[in-house]
Amino acid sequence: MDETCTMEEYNRRIKRVVITKEEIDAAIKEAGKKISESYDGRPILLVSILKGAFVFMADLCRAITVPCEIAFMCAKSYYKGTTSSGVVKITMDLDQDISKYHVIIVEDIIDTGRTLNDIVKLLKARNPLSLRVVTLLDKPERRLVEFKADMALFTIPDFFVIGYGLDCGEYFRNLPYIAEYNCNE
Ligand code: IMP
Ligand code: MG
Repeated sequence: MDETCTMEEYNRRIKRVVITKEEIDAAIKEAGKKISESYDGRPILLVSILKGAFVFMADLCRAITVPCEIAFMCAKSYYKGTTSSGVVKITMDLDQDISKYHVIIVEDIIDTGRTLNDIVKLLKARNPLSLRVVTLLDKPERRLVEFKADMALFTIPDFFVIGYGLDCGEYFRNLPYIAEYNCNE
């Protein structure tokens, strides 16, 4: 997509709704309840991976009832259209010492597994009290490095999705649902 994208082209790219807003809301409510129960009053640090996870983070943190702090990291897995280059770069790091925290990484989607594999290694080396990974979406068929989240709200087949924080060429993050992207020219 580029700045000359017409409204017609924009709409054509949204192939079909895969997960509705209502389904996402219900799954997040449930996940928030489970997380709150399992930490049983212990404070947690939610670390969202920008940009894709910003919408999920905003909704998930409001479904959690134990005390929690919010932090952000920015990771870029360089994308050309809908294919990943395999290079993961941390462009913004945390500014707190995480050794005093139970950390939960909040991610939008696990695809090849490279991004989270790198981030988990990096954060584990900083000795948090505990470290878990919650992802909104999981595409297990696409894994190139072995990685399993502690919690995945939805498992989807191998197609490119947009919406609810996820982009293609920086567009579509503001869609309130998850849609399949129309890759046809
Ligand atoms: P991984 O390192 O291949 O697991 O990729 C993770 C990152 O790639 C995610 O955090 C997303 O930002 C992006 N990504 C992977 N699959 C999709 C997709 O279907 N739509 C949009 N972004 C995606
Ligand atoms: Mg992304």
